Amino acid sequence: MNVLIVGSGGREHAIAVSVAKSGQADNIYCAPGNAGIASVAQCVDIGAMEFDRLADFAEEKSVGLTIIGMDEPLVGGVVDVFEKRGLRVFGPRKNAAVIEGSKVFSKDLMKKYGIPTAAYENFDSPEDALSYLETVKFPVVLKADGLALGKGALICNTMDEAKDAVKTLMLDKQFGDAGNRIVVEEFMTGPEVSVLCYCDGSHIKPMTSAQDHKRAKDNDEGLNTGGMGTFSPSPFYDEKIQKYCEETIYQPTMDAMKAEGRDFVGILFVGLMLTEDGPKVLEYNARFGDPEAQVVLPRMKNDILDVMNACIDGALDKIDLQFEDNAAVCVILASDGYPESYEKGKVITGLENFDGKEDYYVFHAGTKLDGGRMVTNGGRVLGVTAKGGNLLEARKNAYAATEWVSFENKYMRNDIGKSIDNV
Ligand code: AMP
Ligand code: GLY
Repeated sequence: MNVLIVGSGGREHAIAVSVAKSGQADNIYCAPGNAGIASVAQCVDIGAMEFDRLADFAEEKSVGLTIIGMDEPLVGGVVDVFEKRGLRVFGPRKNAAVIEGSKVFSKDLMKKYGIPTAAYENFDSPEDALSYLETVKFPVVLKADGLALGKGALICNTMDEAKDAVKTLMLDKQFGDAGNRIVVEEFMTGPEVSVLCYCDGSHIKPMTSAQDHKRAKDNDEGLNTGGMGTFSPSPFYDEKIQKYCEETIYQPTMDAMKAEGRDFVGILFVGLMLTEDGPKVLEYNARFGDPEAQVVLPRMKNDILDVMNACIDGALDKIDLQFEDNAAVCVILASDGYPESYEKGKVITGLENFDGKEDYYVFHAGTKLDGGRMVTNGGRVLGVTAKGGNLLEARKNAYAATEWVSFENKYMRNDIGKSIDNV
């Protein structure tokens, strides 16, 4: 069977490595891919939003399974296009991917079905939002309804900050039409945990947990980024919490989507906050997290293609999902200046140090080949993942491996996984 992966980041690299490990794929293609993915897959120069060209390619190459890694094509309906053409594809249809594509939809769904989440109100006019804000207790969180590269949630401590946020989202339209509607949400506190789940429309199976570090600088300072590092599992997410989440969040979400005629097939990423009043949903995503995939997938014992095929066939209940009894840490090597301005085109050396090293991975996020040399080509450049018997060991291994690669302007956080010291 031939497999096509759609996307171009560290997450898609991690998916490609898992597909390669499966051994069931004769050829692995990735559109558009990147220079690192090219070491496990044949990269194809088709953009993730070019649905017809992607489907043409899948037909031409007899692709037996296409895996959509990214949010934008899912929310845009790539799965519907593939299905209409009789092509097998892993990911939610447009009417289910809306769980990530619209915060208003997901909040209303949770309210309707009693799934724990922060209290909120929706607004489509700045005036109404501002008069409501006069009545609330600060801090509050303002969120753009639509996709905003993970940067559409603004925490406001005062009315002045809230006024600025309404302006940013609804008037200046920093995130375009994503800000036509906003959600104003109660501020919650507690550890944040990401749980990615396989879903077949009826059944849902959570994977091992992970934690992301979204801020650019140590001690969670600096701007929000796409993610500066992850670790798995989360020591905060114990069996009791998992059971609670299964009963009050995961299965109820699955059932709610089914009841709405929006059967969810694919990966449901549940962003949780473990508050004093119990776990609550911060957000849903309709795909693997990046860089959560880079610590969760290397720990998965199952063949990824078996699990994805079971999801498509509605047979996930037959799969015994298993993870290694160890830990993994991923440290992102970024270009200094990310997420604001940074230089690209710096030569990367030392990648060969990862060759043949079991339990160490270097996932490419923003790289390209320039006349035979690997160079930086983005804000997040590489994700260095290492496994270990426990989180401390995995962290030690991951940070040691960050020294194996060099490039000018290399920047990383030095405290990925540090919070576990106090658990
Ligand atoms: P989201 O895009 O909804 O995941 O929000 C991005 C980040 O903002 C989350 O990972 C949290 O760190 C923070 N955040 C979002 N909603 C809340 C909330 N209601 N209370 C506190 N922090 C929040
Ligand atoms: N790491 C968070 C996300 O993928 O949305």
